[in-house]
Amino acid sequence: MNKALFGRMLHGGDYNPEQWLDRPEILAADREYFRRMHINTVSLGMFSWAVLEPCEGVFNFDWLVQIIDALYAAGVSVIMATPSGARPKWLADAYPEVLRVDAERRRTLFGGRHNHCYTSPVYREKVKIINTEIVRCVGRHPAVLAWHISNEYGGECYCPLCQEAFRSWLAARYGTIDKLNDAWQTVFWSHVYTDFSQIEAPSPIGEHALHGLTLDWKRFVTARTADFASFEIETIRAAGSDKPATVNMMYDYAGLDYERFAGTVDIISWDNYPPWHKTEEKITALDAAMQHDYMRSLKKAPFLLMESCPSATNWQAVSKLKRPGMLLASSLQAVAHGADSVLYFQMRQSRGASEKFHGAAIDHWGGETRVMNEITDVGLALESLGAVCGSTVHAAAAIIMDRESRWAMEDAAGPRNAGLKYKALFTRIYNGLRRGGAAVDIISEERDISAYRIVAVPMAYMCKPGFAEKLRAFVSSGGTLVVSYWSGIVDEYDRCCLNGTPHGLTDVLGLRSCEIDALYDGEQNAAIPVAGNALGLTRRYVCDTLCDVVDLCGAMPVLTYTDDFYAGRAALTFKQFGAGTAWYIGALFEEELFSDIFCRLVTTAGAAQPYAMRLFGGSSVPEGVGVTTRENDDAAYVFVQNFNRFSLCLPSKVLPKGASVLYGTYTGSLAPLETLVFAFSKT
Ligand code: GLA
Ligand code: ZN
Repeated sequence: MNKALFGRMLHGGDYNPEQWLDRPEILAADREYFRRMHINTVSLGMFSWAVLEPCEGVFNFDWLVQIIDALYAAGVSVIMATPSGARPKWLADAYPEVLRVDAERRRTLFGGRHNHCYTSPVYREKVKIINTEIVRCVGRHPAVLAWHISNEYGGECYCPLCQEAFRSWLAARYGTIDKLNDAWQTVFWSHVYTDFSQIEAPSPIGEHALHGLTLDWKRFVTARTADFASFEIETIRAAGSDKPATVNMMYDYAGLDYERFAGTVDIISWDNYPPWHKTEEKITALDAAMQHDYMRSLKKAPFLLMESCPSATNWQAVSKLKRPGMLLASSLQAVAHGADSVLYFQMRQSRGASEKFHGAAIDHWGGETRVMNEITDVGLALESLGAVCGSTVHAAAAIIMDRESRWAMEDAAGPRNAGLKYKALFTRIYNGLRRGGAAVDIISEERDISAYRIVAVPMAYMCKPGFAEKLRAFVSSGGTLVVSYWSGIVDEYDRCCLNGTPHGLTDVLGLRSCEIDALYDGEQNAAIPVAGNALGLTRRYVCDTLCDVVDLCGAMPVLTYTDDFYAGRAALTFKQFGAGTAWYIGALFEEELFSDIFCRLVTTAGAAQPYAMRLFGGSSVPEGVGVTTRENDDAAYVFVQNFNRFSLCLPSKVLPKGASVLYGTYTGSLAPLETLVFAFSKT
């Protein structure tokens, strides 16, 4: 509990020195710049396989040992990667089975990266050999802090080996083919299977409309990839290293259910590349905050920001430079939400190949730059935040975000194939909770919710076994539950729930969803408050996208629709259930409604961050301001960040009792992109 991961905030990033082995003066200059920028850690070896093992069984590690020795002497630690993210040409040539097969069943040629089969026994064997050699040669070096397993696992392989593995996985999951047929409801369209051997993974040139098959394939891909990650970690352990292992995850990556990796890795880490300045920074900041919260919630522990860009990427549609101060604000936002590191891609810009124009700490010019000064500011900030290491966020609010449910919902042909706007609903709920002063965990349906005070359930299309029961128990013992339209529609096999939806919750919510109306783009409805309503709402709110039409059986209407044949029917409701309250949001309302609902509910549920609210005089958090508390047994650290384009005043010109300023200068106001960190002692 509250254990610092590495005793200091890590600052540095991906370093690919194999590109410069013939230029020792460049490598020496790198170390000098690292010192000046307060860099203390680099990740090595992500893409070094072809240099470490130039031919099968021939190893070349001297350069790596020398690099690590020199870095260590310069005070720089190492996160050591396994190189399985990109394999050498000899491996593809000698063993074509390691090459991926795409969904149309074409075997890919050598090239790119993430282009290998996770099932291939040959690939596993070769990965084991190189990983073992890495541990043997550098794994015990005192510079090495942790293992960076592969790089951004992702993608799918449809090769015969993977198909066989999928069939075995299905056989283990269902036992009999009849159970599978029932789960997938294959009798419709005459898709009944008589043997597991007949099953093929989904394909654009074959079966792609059997939702149960597609859903199970996605689950299988996750299981396969997580199995490969475990396999890699085992190779490290078997070779004698017990240093913590992580896999770097990606932003809202739909290809994998990261929940299944949480038990496999020791530390969660992720790569954060927000498109800053594409729109107002407060909007991008909200999105990045959600992603940090999701990553932290996977283990409810400090995580690593494994990659970010010090200037501009080279892969966004428009790769814009970060304005002065943006790198610092973005980096400290990660720390506010639970990161114990700020790491970049990459330390020195490549001279050629695919990422030569991707921003880096040291650029092609090779001299001092504006970006270096920005990085130095981050380094200094992290040094002054050392006490925060190992502390974490204790959220009293949670939002349910279940990847399997999203897969099923997005694949199902349903009310609005032009877009269900899940992200918009999710973001509005998240923003409402944050405006109310809550810290927020983002968790799957499978996680424990008993310790939260408020739980929001946006479009939980799939109701997994036990989920409805958990929500019932939560409300009856005093929790505040907010459920949205298009929840509790199908079971874990994507079979529609019979006898009323939201499944298992109709009595808790006091209503039944009868029909759902989909609105065309640009079409709107609206809702008006019921006199004397439970939230004290007084204005009209516009809604669009999806409008649920419900029959009430115990719920009190709070808002009613204004238009269409369902005008006058409830659009927002509430019901007391046991010691708690259950709310139902029937449509995708405008943002303001979510702030109005959640500012109120966070307060009544007692879910606001206690130390932070002393800074805001108990009222709601201004829009565009991020407030997050990290705590350990000794102290609470409240991060306050202004992502607005204007300065704003904090409610009080004087510091609240018990607070000191750990980072920044307290003047009673916050400039755009300014961060203040307050410490409240608990002892
Ligand atoms: C990813 C990869 C890195 C690099 C960066 C560029 O996060 O992990 O190797 O390609 O993108 O932004
Ligand atoms: Zn394969």
